[in-house]
Amino acid sequence: MLTIASFFAGVGGIDLGFQQTGRCRTVYANEFDSYPAATFQENFPIKVDLRDINKVKSADVPITDIIVGGFPCQAFSIAGLRQGFQDEKGRGELFFQLARIVNANRPEAALFENVKNLVSHDDGRTFRIICEELQNMGYHIEYKVLNAMKYGNVAQNRERIYIVAFQNEAARQAFQWPEEIPLTNTVRDIIDFEGNVPDRYYYTEGRFAGDIYEQLKEAMEDDDIENPAIYQWRRKYVRKNQSGVIPTLTANQGGGGHNVCLIKTRHGIRKMTPRECFTAQGFDRDNFVLPEQSDTRLYKEAGNSVCVPVIRRIAEAMLQALDNTGYVALEDRPR
Ligand SMILES: C[S@@+](CC[C@H](N)C(=O)[O-])C[C@H]1O[C@@H](n2cnc3c(N)ncnc32)[C@H](O)[C@@H]1O
Repeated sequence: MLTIASFFAGVGGIDLGFQQTGRCRTVYANEFDSYPAATFQENFPIKVDLRDINKVKSADVPITDIIVGGFPCQAFSIAGLRQGFQDEKGRGELFFQLARIVNANRPEAALFENVKNLVSHDDGRTFRIICEELQNMGYHIEYKVLNAMKYGNVAQNRERIYIVAFQNEAARQAFQWPEEIPLTNTVRDIIDFEGNVPDRYYYTEGRFAGDIYEQLKEAMEDDDIENPAIYQWRRKYVRKNQSGVIPTLTANQGGGGHNVCLIKTRHGIRKMTPRECFTAQGFDRDNFVLPEQSDTRLYKEAGNSVCVPVIRRIAEAMLQALDNTGYVALEDRPR
């Protein structure tokens, strides 16, 4: 088994993708928000280190084969303030905290995930600094933007940048990004258009101030059963999306509820449930446990996470590259 140390672990989407290869297990996870950490702990047999990464000494982290981290992206995304490394809350700096631990503990490989915009932020300077930092540490890197609907067979339009890093240049050369695969799953595999869900997810007359319901009813006229439209309430208007996939789930969905996708089902107009949002990220609805937490928290955790099948495919490609270069997992070495 290859061991993993996971940073900005959230609910463990990256860990799950690696675990699904059947050859990796997370032995350390750091996440300072107790709510996603609680979700993580429901699903993985380890206790999350709840400290701020700034306070974590590299010596506190076990030496592992791989380090993973989807470092916070607010500072880089269009939805955020576009401040990058100058971000006032220090979020842009968090990459360097992760780099500090990678540099000290020297995992054989690492995977970083972020919003697509990281590449173009500040005319490419931010991304160049990140790449240079890793290269100066002696890592050989590859990066690529992958869309969940093209690489994960999940009906969500989610473009993310993935950076893989290897200590061994031969492993980087052996590494091949997953190929595109056909999208055979649909929104119907994610959303239950026939069944009922608890009342709180439905929009009904007079329920919300400003009578959104009337506007929704008017805008959500579509009755295409085969290819149901997904809608979003955009403060003043309803946006219709009929591309056959769910628009990118975001971390701020749920906060005020305005970003959660809306659908017209047999039982009325409603929001996607938190469970459906997790399914849209490729979390198995029968096996991934969601703890008792507010919907707002769960929506945020789902939006903040990753598309698990994409991670699994990248993890498989990384393992293949390590195998090709004869890498032996730390725990399989003779003592
Ligand atoms: C983009 S999310 C990553 C989610 C994760 N990949 C998953 O699958 O759920 C970033 C996470 O970093 C955490 N975080 C932000 N700043 C942190 C810090 N200073 N120390 C530790 N965790 C932090 C946030 O609470 C958030 O859960």
